[in-house]
Amino acid sequence: MKKNLFINVILALTFICISATIAHKTLRSAFKKDFLIGAAINASQIEEKNDAEATLLREQFSAITPENIMKAEVIHPGWDRYNFTLADKIIALGEKNHMVVNGHTLIWHSQLPLFARQIQQADSFRTYFTEHINTIASRYKGKIYSWDVVNEALNEDGTMRKSVFLEKLGNDFVTEAFRLAEKASPGTELYYNDYNNEQPKKREGCINLIKKIQDAGVRIDGVGIQGHWQKGKVPLKEIEESILAYHALGLKVMITELDIEMLPRNFDGADVANRQASNPALNPYAAGIPDQLLQDQATDYANLFKLFLKHRDKITRVTFWGMHDGQSWLNGWPIRGRTNYPLLFDRAFSPKPAFHAIMALK
Ligand code: XIL
Repeated sequence: MKKNLFINVILALTFICISATIAHKTLRSAFKKDFLIGAAINASQIEEKNDAEATLLREQFSAITPENIMKAEVIHPGWDRYNFTLADKIIALGEKNHMVVNGHTLIWHSQLPLFARQIQQADSFRTYFTEHINTIASRYKGKIYSWDVVNEALNEDGTMRKSVFLEKLGNDFVTEAFRLAEKASPGTELYYNDYNNEQPKKREGCINLIKKIQDAGVRIDGVGIQGHWQKGKVPLKEIEESILAYHALGLKVMITELDIEMLPRNFDGADVANRQASNPALNPYAAGIPDQLLQDQATDYANLFKLFLKHRDKITRVTFWGMHDGQSWLNGWPIRGRTNYPLLFDRAFSPKPAFHAIMALK
């Protein structure tokens, strides 16, 4: 009788211990041996204004990317004006929480300050370009883990985007940007980042761009596939082909801005300049989303992470574009004022079915 009681107590204690371990498993610990798990964070999250958000970040994520504050319009608003306050803070937060910081982004045609867009002379523009990279990259030398050196230089057909950089500096500006970044911050990993670069034509263009950098003897360490995908339309085959193709060039592969959008829109990709008019019919889940849709999203996320785990030797980081649904840029793009549900945590910071589906793979 006594012996049975003893065995039962031992069994109960074992059960409690195992469930506690499972319950406490977080993304960052579950995927520790596979790849970093990142989140894009906004200014208030960098400053840890909300305790619950600060805890969520610290517990779940091992990498951070600033959602906006390292973009040119914020960090370099005038010729001789730089605003490093929040950028310095994200570096300090990364150190404090043992999270890798990825700088986003040195060269991008969007979110440029007015003064940069108004520069007329090509040589003045080159001076701007050089000083922008030198000043920012050298300030974070030895402190930042990696940079998205260039963001979104390609069109959907794989040709070079007709941006102000192409127009003023010519075809080699991407190689030049990497050369400058390498010189200013030698120990930092350097990446090219884009959306839809898992799609065959754009992938081809991306491969050519990377080869051009490599052929010039300039260092590039990795390529980011942004990963702004839509429920039921995640292009698993193209993603796998791209992981293999980029890895074959000797590069690390990252998913850098992952979200799975739940609302309708009439185009693919993530060009921030693309917008659609607001219309209540296009905001169907303002009062809540049916559970079935969250289950479908969980299946998409699980399939994606199965693929990522299969290629864990090639993928070094998977970063979500935000920590929780309430923060997602997809509440405001491509249609303003919608209620979207693209991430793993809901508006109350609780894990969604997609979180559990991913954790169940481990
Ligand atoms: C988005 C931010 O999330 C928004 O807050 C901002 O208004 C626009 O930019 N691709 C990128 C990111 O590389 O920098 C974009 O971030 C989303 C698309």
